[in-house]
Amino acid sequence: MGNNTVTITNNSTGESHEFPLLKGTHGPDVFDIQQLYKTMGLFTYDPGYKSTASCESRITYIDGDKGILLYRGYPIEELSEHSNFLEVSYLIMYGELPNQDEYDKFTFTIKHHSMVHEGFKNFVNGFRRDAHPMSILVGMVGAMSSFYHDSLDITDPLHQEISVHRLLAKLPTLAAMAYKHTHGQPFIYPRNDLSYAENFLHMMYAVPAEEYEIDPLHAKALDVTLLLHADHEQNASTSTVRLAGSSGANPFAAASAGIGCLWGPAHGGANEAVIKMLEEIKTPDNIPKYINKAKDKDDPFRLMGFGHRVYKNYDPRAKIIRNFAKEIVEKLEGNDPLFEIALKLEEIALTDEYFIEKKLYPNVDFYSGIIYKALNIPTSMFTVIFSLGRMIGWMAQWQEMIRDPKRVIGRPRQNYVGPAKRSFVSLDKR
Ligand code: SDX
Repeated sequence: MGNNTVTITNNSTGESHEFPLLKGTHGPDVFDIQQLYKTMGLFTYDPGYKSTASCESRITYIDGDKGILLYRGYPIEELSEHSNFLEVSYLIMYGELPNQDEYDKFTFTIKHHSMVHEGFKNFVNGFRRDAHPMSILVGMVGAMSSFYHDSLDITDPLHQEISVHRLLAKLPTLAAMAYKHTHGQPFIYPRNDLSYAENFLHMMYAVPAEEYEIDPLHAKALDVTLLLHADHEQNASTSTVRLAGSSGANPFAAASAGIGCLWGPAHGGANEAVIKMLEEIKTPDNIPKYINKAKDKDDPFRLMGFGHRVYKNYDPRAKIIRNFAKEIVEKLEGNDPLFEIALKLEEIALTDEYFIEKKLYPNVDFYSGIIYKALNIPTSMFTVIFSLGRMIGWMAQWQEMIRDPKRVIGRPRQNYVGPAKRSFVSLDKR
């Protein structure tokens, strides 16, 4: 038996087989079971994929126990302090930090793809005024494929690249259009003299009636939160993008599927749910009641913004966002009652036996909503902002999957526990 193998013995048949043990750069060893069904006639069973590596990737690494997050090997703490969202987007997409020429070319490209086809105005205006912005975004991103027939050959590296550039560049414009539509205000065109975050704030809040002055702290806070949301291994929405893309669907359709998945409150929709939860708690005196609800097995209530499938330590992104939220609140408003409740809730939860035993810490969504609120972003736009940050991660993962020479369509099996084969019974005999 080689030391780079794992032996599986089926005790019901006495049959044994060795399978390769793969070693990555970081993280647990992986045993390769691709031949398991062919050699032993067995499936694995792992609902929620808690012990399953769905792919090999070179983009992001998370150490959940140590609270480590690396983008292409660089710690998120260093990137959030020294870099910016577009530079990190280049890193995630191309694998290396850009030199000045590469950075200038990339930012020029993204800025000069920020406008969308005028036809999108009719599309957005077809939605109800009270439509959730995520419902508009899901529709508009999928509809992008109807405008770009010149670049839908997913096997062409140039088509892949231009599609990614278009999604990264146009998503803020589409997101701001969704916001303007639901507020009955005129759409504001992008401006190429502004940074990515400044442009989004401008398209969201500028009105034709007067000049809009961008607060540099707002722009910085938004840029950092986009950077912190850029990628996160094979989370639910990224896995959705990979699975949708594995059928050969175009990147706009795959991205739209990812946005749909992110919308769920257990995933990217948690940031909106956190604010609603803090508003429901209202005062610090009510916190113990909600902590008890979260611990009650018979109560479906969960402490939104707490817990994570991978992090069994403090989410490193939450730590950075928390510090920023504190700075923003102090500078902009002096204090924010919801932030006070969030800090108190965290303090109490982290000393509670239940949360300690289950290793439930604040995740990226717990504090991000506080920052978005301070930027006057409505809660219905919070997951849209998450989508803005995550789009580059989805597309880098999509491209990595498409360029994988071993690419196959994703098609999980199942453990069938339904009725055994039986014959039809005519109606008169039932
Ligand atoms: C994101 O995957 C990613 O990387 C996601 C993300 C990204 O960047 O893409 O990081 C972004 O989605 C962050 C997570 C945002 N969601 C929330 O904040 C919603 C609240 N959290 C939970 O729904 C939950 O913690 C999940 C969904 C995040 C993780 O769920 P798991 O890994 O399936 O864990 P679990 O549901 O099996 O919970 C383990 C135990 C359970 O108790 P037991 O059945 O063992 O008795 O912990 C309990 C759960 O009941 N638990 C909680 C809890 N989260 C888990 N109890 C109270 N409050 C919570 N928030």
